[in-house]
Amino acid sequence: MMDIQFGADYYPEHWPEDRWETDAKLMREMGLGVVRMAEFAWTRIEPKEGEFRFEWLERAVNLLGKYGVKTILGTPTPTPPAWIIEKHPEILPINSKGVKAAFGGRHHNCQSNRTYRSHAVRMLEAFTSRFRDNPHVVGWQTDNELGNSHDDLCHCPSCRTAFQDWLQSKYGTVEELNRRWGTVFWSQEYDSFLQIPTPAWNVTAHSPSLLLDWKRFHSDLICDFQQFQIDIIRKNCPGHMVTHNFMGFFDIIDYFKLAESLDFISHDQYPTGFFDNPQPGKTPAVLASALDLMRGLKNKTFWIMEQQSGPTGWTVLGRTPEPGQLSLWAAQSVARGADCVVFFRWRTCTVGTEQYWHGILPHSGNPGRRYGELKETISRLAPVMKEFKGALSGAEGAILYDYDQNWSLEIQPHHPDLAYIRHVQVYYDAFHKRNIPLDFISREGDFSSYKLIIAPLMYLMTAELEKRFETFVEGGGRLVLTMRTGVKNRDNVCMAERELPGESGDLLGIEIRDYDCLRDICRTVQMGAGKNLSAEKWCDIISLKGAESLAEISDGWYPGNPVVTVNSRDRGKAYYVGTEPNKELALSLADTLIEDADLLPPAPDAEGLEVVRRRTDSRDYFFVLNHSGEEKEFTSPAGWSAVSAGNGAIPPYGYGIYQTDR
Ligand code: GAL
Ligand code: ZN
Repeated sequence: MMDIQFGADYYPEHWPEDRWETDAKLMREMGLGVVRMAEFAWTRIEPKEGEFRFEWLERAVNLLGKYGVKTILGTPTPTPPAWIIEKHPEILPINSKGVKAAFGGRHHNCQSNRTYRSHAVRMLEAFTSRFRDNPHVVGWQTDNELGNSHDDLCHCPSCRTAFQDWLQSKYGTVEELNRRWGTVFWSQEYDSFLQIPTPAWNVTAHSPSLLLDWKRFHSDLICDFQQFQIDIIRKNCPGHMVTHNFMGFFDIIDYFKLAESLDFISHDQYPTGFFDNPQPGKTPAVLASALDLMRGLKNKTFWIMEQQSGPTGWTVLGRTPEPGQLSLWAAQSVARGADCVVFFRWRTCTVGTEQYWHGILPHSGNPGRRYGELKETISRLAPVMKEFKGALSGAEGAILYDYDQNWSLEIQPHHPDLAYIRHVQVYYDAFHKRNIPLDFISREGDFSSYKLIIAPLMYLMTAELEKRFETFVEGGGRLVLTMRTGVKNRDNVCMAERELPGESGDLLGIEIRDYDCLRDICRTVQMGAGKNLSAEKWCDIISLKGAESLAEISDGWYPGNPVVTVNSRDRGKAYYVGTEPNKELALSLADTLIEDADLLPPAPDAEGLEVVRRRTDSRDYFFVLNHSGEEKEFTSPAGWSAVSAGNGAIPPYGYGIYQTDR
């Protein structure tokens, strides 16, 4: 297929038809080659049960096609029409307090409900059959941001039965479930799967084992909800690609699984965030890590299906992106592995909830500052994107990212502020500051191509994973395990066969018999000449059993306690970090690891600039991104030639592109 590199999310149903051609022309002039359409348009394609109206959409697809703009169609399953809900109110989801959602907004559908699925099947069979041979349609997006708004859903009878069935196929017998969950605690032993509740509101708390299986079930249910759609698309449209728009560190679906049966994944990147809910600030490193995780899901380049194109907000707004910022963020997405960037949205809508979530065009539809800026950046990026299409980062270090760990720590975070994603981010940030690329891999991923693997908070452990870690280290790898490694088995039950950190204790050369949850304090840490180092949230009290200490606590009741250790095994080394390091400690640690694992920064003198690589067989391409509002000096290293860069300095919110032969 020809290269599709830029696009916009387009809602022709929001505008009079006589405007469409103007839009198509403006899109072509801007350099857009694709639109995503129809992911919320159910009532317009099936206004009454079984009565389909595809003509308007077909006219839009064909008109855009005439201007060289291809189409990705979204399956409108996030917006069940009022006529379905009126007939089958049981489709509305129920939250953990037993409250049924009202009709309205979107995502008001229970994902296990068979009646709902049968409506979706009828609509999708007709929809996919109709567009199968349209020459302008290149693929499909399943649903939209699956899992979005489903956090506390759904506890309806259908979901309860589905949960019980899921448990039965996992455990076989209820006796086995009782044994593995330890339901003897508080007399929760079950005689039958039918007695098992969903974790709906109760007066105290549910079993951690039940809670973890519920999260896994929920994730599997959403994957299944996607799979029946993929099956229909693949059957009816064998020539089309299938993708879905993911949400970075969104936590209720195991994204490695959701990605499995897609041709490639897409991601929605909103650097200024969702302003109706307070969010942790999205630093350049936070944005970068989301993109790297997305690339890691299939170890493959991806699309951005929604890239921010203006100020965001539903009821209250975020800051207006300054001149250059929208382009810089799009360039960052490309630098970290996007082969196509689709902007959300084409034109700011005048109706509905998202009236202030701005598009490329303002309400008036007249091209303005954003259109001009993005047009310019498309003409700058498009030619070079062709050259490195498909190219990854060539990272030699990786972070092991594991949804199970996140879920089990959400259930029992230990310290009120401990959060798996933020903890992972502490390590990521330190490497980002040094511009050392990292990949994200799953626990089943290929370890062998890395020199360094950081596996934070491996709280749930299996013998198999312990063995994989050992093999990695024995083969010469540098492995980092951290606090709360090896505490529990996969049933979310504490292991008692060995002292912490379990079997990995041999590989790490340590033993942990005591620990301290650092409520309201942190501990001072001594590591070489490092300054302002501290241990936060948690501290393991470590006995060395062959390992060497690299950093010690210097205050409190366990002064001298090793908090970072290293143990050699064959050609490799296993590190342990018994705390959440503060920024400075994480940086000292990263420097130690970078040196030990011999990881080279792409451009040594780029303090304050983000340097990102895409590596093809014959060349490296580098993006040098300036996320600050001030000009930054940059001298490119010997051997780099400028592809698209000024001389010597990177402007505020600017970026340069360079290349070098390998
Ligand atoms: C995304 C979603 C879009 C739109 C956008 C702005 O999460 O996929 O449909 O809602 O946010 O709110
Ligand atoms: Zn339900």
